[in-house]
Amino acid sequence: MSNIVKERQSHWLPKIEAELDRLTSECGSMHPELLAAMRYSLLDAGKRIRPILALEFCRAAGGDPEDAMPFACGVEMIHTYSLIHDDLPCMDDDDLRRGKPSCHIQFGEDTALLAGDALQPLAFETMLSGSRLRPDLTVKAAAVLAHACGAAGMVGGQVIDLKNEGKHVGLDQLRVMDSGKTGAIIKAACIMGVIAADGSDEMIATAEKYAENIGIAFQITDDILDVTSTAEVLGKPVESDIGNDKSTYVSLLGLENARLEAARFTALAVEAVEPLGEKAQFLKEFAKMLEGRIN
Ligand code: IPE
Ligand code: IPE
Ligand code: MG
Ligand code: MG
Ligand code: MG
Repeated sequence: MSNIVKERQSHWLPKIEAELDRLTSECGSMHPELLAAMRYSLLDAGKRIRPILALEFCRAAGGDPEDAMPFACGVEMIHTYSLIHDDLPCMDDDDLRRGKPSCHIQFGEDTALLAGDALQPLAFETMLSGSRLRPDLTVKAAAVLAHACGAAGMVGGQVIDLKNEGKHVGLDQLRVMDSGKTGAIIKAACIMGVIAADGSDEMIATAEKYAENIGIAFQITDDILDVTSTAEVLGKPVESDIGNDKSTYVSLLGLENARLEAARFTALAVEAVEPLGEKAQFLKEFAKMLEGRIN
């Protein structure tokens, strides 16, 4: 892994962890088991890809990255809620997540469902109450995330994913599905970082282009790891997609072509941030790290 990625990850990971810990301890849950389930899924795990993208896009757009911390925590809460629900028996029915039993295995389906439900508004409370930015910037960022995680984004893509089970879908449909279920939240993270820096429309367009390409590359790699990795390394079950008869990049293109596609979209992401010059160094290396990741 490149030095800049290592350096920034070791800078951000403890800070993100401490913030998520603080925010959930102070959220005022009316029931201890609900809080335990929220914290079980949110804390001590996860690569924190989306928060790091928000913080680093803020820096690349010329802002103080700490300003983006409430947005970074908000997007990680939304992502974690999506994972809790994604694992439920009515969805992918997976028993392992982030190296431990999935939330519904540990706490039961009812509490897991509600822990996901509770993380979602906590994300927006975190952003709206925790931001030290100008109110118009905060509202703009919250609106971006709200749009990205709903019917026009993550939830929409998840529904397509479920409805496609057992069907052979084309590459175009796969791309639409992935741009929703995976791409939308990644894109929101990048855009929110630019908003935190009060960046230009041009900078937002650059963030969008980078994010759209790493979003596709990210899901392709996720599909590849589902067939090439082990549960120990991945922290989630392998061959889940085959078991659920999903259409993936691997089922459609085969392993080798899927790898080539991941490399192609990573290169497009790197190209997208080229105009930022020096400021793009981390973003470029981060995209490459994501392509080569093992979990
Ligand atoms: C997994 O996301 C779900 C997808 C969108 C493919 P990550 O691979 O970022 O999972 P964590 O957050 O590190 O657990
Ligand atoms: C789900 O994609 C993306 C989400 C919105 C959580 P997957 O179903 O492939 O994610 P994993 O492999 O279970 O993490
Ligand atoms: Mg799924
Ligand atoms: Mg899944
Ligand atoms: Mg997957």
